[in-house]
Amino acid sequence: MTRKILVTSALPYANGSIHLGHLVEYIQTDIWVRFHKMQADTQCFYVCADDTHGTPIMLRAEKEDISPEQLIDRVWNEHTSDFSGFHIEFDNYYSTNSDENKELAQSIYRKLRDEAKLIDTRIIEQFYDPEKEMFLPDRFIKGECPKCHALDQYGDSCEACGATYSPTDLINPVSAVSGATPVRKESEHYFFKLGDDRCKAFLTSWTQAQGHLQAEASNKMQEWLESGLNNWDISRDAPYFGFEIPDAPGKYFYVWLDAPIGYMASFMNLAKREGLNFDEFWKEGSDTELYHFIGKDILYFHALFWPATLKFSGHRTPTSVFAHGFLTVNGQKMSKSRGTFITAESYLQHLNPEYLRYYYAAKLNGSMEDIDLSLEDFTARVNSDLVGKYVNIASRAAGFIHKRFEGRLISAEERRQPEEEELETQLLGSEEMIARAYAERDFSKAIREIMRLTDLVNQFVDQNKPWELAKKPEMEKRLHQVCSESLNAFRILTIYLKPVLPQLATRVEQFLNLEGKMGWQDLTTYPTNAINTYEHLMTRIDPKQVEAMIEANKATLAPATEPHSQARHAEKQAHETQPASGTSIAPIAETISIDDFSKIDLRIARIVNAEHVEGADKLLQLTLDIGEGKTRNVFAGIKSAYAPEKLIGRMTVMVANLAPRKMKFGLSEGMVLAASGDTPGLFILSPDDGAQPGMRVK
Ligand code: MSP
Ligand code: ZN
Repeated sequence: MTRKILVTSALPYANGSIHLGHLVEYIQTDIWVRFHKMQADTQCFYVCADDTHGTPIMLRAEKEDISPEQLIDRVWNEHTSDFSGFHIEFDNYYSTNSDENKELAQSIYRKLRDEAKLIDTRIIEQFYDPEKEMFLPDRFIKGECPKCHALDQYGDSCEACGATYSPTDLINPVSAVSGATPVRKESEHYFFKLGDDRCKAFLTSWTQAQGHLQAEASNKMQEWLESGLNNWDISRDAPYFGFEIPDAPGKYFYVWLDAPIGYMASFMNLAKREGLNFDEFWKEGSDTELYHFIGKDILYFHALFWPATLKFSGHRTPTSVFAHGFLTVNGQKMSKSRGTFITAESYLQHLNPEYLRYYYAAKLNGSMEDIDLSLEDFTARVNSDLVGKYVNIASRAAGFIHKRFEGRLISAEERRQPEEEELETQLLGSEEMIARAYAERDFSKAIREIMRLTDLVNQFVDQNKPWELAKKPEMEKRLHQVCSESLNAFRILTIYLKPVLPQLATRVEQFLNLEGKMGWQDLTTYPTNAINTYEHLMTRIDPKQVEAMIEANKATLAPATEPHSQARHAEKQAHETQPASGTSIAPIAETISIDDFSKIDLRIARIVNAEHVEGADKLLQLTLDIGEGKTRNVFAGIKSAYAPEKLIGRMTVMVANLAPRKMKFGLSEGMVLAASGDTPGLFILSPDDGAQPGMRVK
């Protein structure tokens, strides 16, 4: 019987670019899907979508002065082009802001409410921005940590001491949206009663049952379940970009309610287009398979909320949820200052996507451990494994086959010689082990085995020395045998690597004239047709390309390259700073007290205008808005580093209480801060996204 498999990757947020961290997941899933699609008796579908709802997306659109729909359209185009650049092949890439998703979300909600009786309402008190007239999510409230008193911490946790708390515990809270002081306000919220005994019983058995979760994940869920499940708040008040809750005017589904339903909606859209049976995949009791690939940070949603949502709305539950770990680069979190926060787009400008697919495959083992992209190891490994060992096999044999044997491999009758037989037998003998490793997501094991086989093939060539056989006319047949055998081995290795290197495999198919004949079931079929001329399949990585990519991703202050604000982890990572190693800095000035410091009134300023100053070599004339209702005129010595037109619209930091100074060109009413050191360059400061003119910097 044909296996029917539906696979998903987590839906990326539509307010940021795809980066190398995301790609761990999409590459992992794509390899797994491609492996299954290569199997003759398997029908496999891979769907995904952009996750488009919620406050951050609404505010981002507002900031860019476009509608949320315009924003998510633009990002959809960016995301799909990034994914196709990395050969991630979805059967459907949709959006959670779709008709299908709206209908599904509303009907699931109605089932939970009317049939399962698992929806409840309750009045809760939350921070409200009186200026912006909206309730504030935790991440949009900042203030002083109640525990360690670090300033400028988010409403849910402190990055300085790691404390977690509720936003109402923050000292001097401010709204990151408007800068206003938030007030407490009550409102009615809708809850999914996860605390209900039926949910608890179901989830306890679901999370502990064999096969649904990895062992580590299942233990984690056990802990969570033991500490008791709270009812889940699934509503948000207007203004909110999302779907309205039926019979609840002004209330919207919280983004995490409709996001996973987006998996169903994307499949529904595909099903309509391709005439597939939606219910066969989603109805309770379905015997098709459903797999979700996710990062470990969103396990809670996928291992608790999502199965419960499905179960109590009359749907099937996932066959398995597969969680992976987080990406580090050179052993550390991705960082904008180190240039290791690399976007998909930027990677593609510098390097071949299949290098990364290969490297991730070599690292992924199906566990929730973090995976490290060591750039040195990346370069060394791709160059030695792929270019030095694998591609090399083809380039060593193809020339002789072409020049001496009219492109034909030796015939099957003349082929058999004991040692070649042994080579092929060894290669095919690993088939089961490699297939199992792929299926179990232990790609690193598959790659190790494939590389062991690649070594064997190279040894075979080294021992038989075709370049010497070629000099002796009496060894003509032997030469033909040896080269045919190694090309056939290359064909087998290519099939094994095809889930990881789809584009390379396609080029090999053309070269070997085997289009459409390199599925898993073709492993044992010795090719009999003529091959085409060999063209170079893959070049080495030059470490300079990697350096150039890192340079290009170093957070510069130029607005054109300022990256979008990213998903929450990325956002956290962007805040860390690291002193540049090996450089000496000017001595630190004399110690001052906090009172001394607080004399300096630093404010966020918007650069409303910037112009050259007639007759001044170093100065630019800036018009700054610090929210006073009038603008200020400041002369800044930054002409060497900035073109005025690049500055207009940017936010920066100014000293607002510096005594005005009469200059040759006019009155300067403050000072803009910039960094400089021994190395050339001058760098003005930029606040993080969300800072508003007039906010105090302290
Ligand atoms: N929108 C939610 C998912 C909703 S699914 C119904 C979300 N989006 S995300 O853009 O933040 O992340 C998308 C996926 O990428 C998640 O599975 C997340 O774990 C993964 N990763 C994001 N950054 C990552 C790393 N740095 N490393 C590895 N995976 C990472 O979460
Ligand atoms: Zn703290």
